[in-house]
Amino acid sequence: MTTVVNLNGRLLPPEQALVSVFDRGFLYGDSVYEVVRTYRGRPFELDRHLARLERSAGRLALELPWSLARSKTEIERTLEAAGEFPSEPEAAPWNEGEKSIRVIATRGAGELGLDPALAVDPLAMVMVTPLKGPPASKYRTGAACRIVGIRHDAPEAVDTTAKTGAHLANVLAVSEARRWGADEALLLDRDGLVTEGASSNVFAVRQGRLETPPLAVGILEGVTRGVAMALARGAGLDVREVPLRSADLALAEELFITSTAREILPVTNLDGRPLGSGQVGPVTTRLHALFREHADRAAQAR
Ligand code: PDD
Repeated sequence: MTTVVNLNGRLLPPEQALVSVFDRGFLYGDSVYEVVRTYRGRPFELDRHLARLERSAGRLALELPWSLARSKTEIERTLEAAGEFPSEPEAAPWNEGEKSIRVIATRGAGELGLDPALAVDPLAMVMVTPLKGPPASKYRTGAACRIVGIRHDAPEAVDTTAKTGAHLANVLAVSEARRWGADEALLLDRDGLVTEGASSNVFAVRQGRLETPPLAVGILEGVTRGVAMALARGAGLDVREVPLRSADLALAEELFITSTAREILPVTNLDGRPLGSGQVGPVTTRLHALFREHADRAAQAR
């Protein structure tokens, strides 16, 4: 098999993995999720992802149908059922044959209406699909980012540190970036402060320091962001969480984005203009090499 869906504990091929149209995840984005990836077939940083899932659920007062231990067992079962995956075309070597694991919990189906008390049938699922990382060539040339017009969701509305299924701003941001031929959208908040990518965190190298927006600006605490910051500090880099504006990014020496599927992806074009030297910079190259070693060690430690 390749793609396998685990729906409330039942292992199903994708075409049989169906949920109710009354499910609140479908109707309102009333759900939380995580995306984990494998290295050598084993989940990476699973505990951190599942801890974040619990925090996200807590913020929405959504009771997770599965305990932590059950989630791990169900992920294991789904990975086993999925078996070996063929390599994606143009995959970077470290992504060949690897899997993406999406864990989702919705408040469930029930009578129509916004009141969460109407939900009676919470759903938990795991989707194991082939990992789609950037093609190997993007790590050599660097990616293009666009600072989009649509603003980041306000943290005062829905807590943006929770990874919820309500993703419309991110969807529209990606659509805008694609129209400009960019690989990823970067979003500002209403005060013009840089927040994060549509599905990534952003870092700038400025005067030799590594800078990234603070969590207080209302961003997701990316697992990859955390690993990248720890590795950078371990290598003696000066790492700071500071408010950044568009001009700070445009004038940066180097930029990169981080996410589960991308690891540390260099950005060499911002808003249609070359960034810094227009080439992948030395700090990004060094950090990605450190990340690669870290991920290899994590895969071997099992
Ligand atoms: N996205 N910011 C946002 C808004 C995200 O959706 C993500 C992850 C990140 C990076 O987090 P991490 O390093 O833990 O993957 C930052 C996942 C991968 C997704 O929705 O596909």
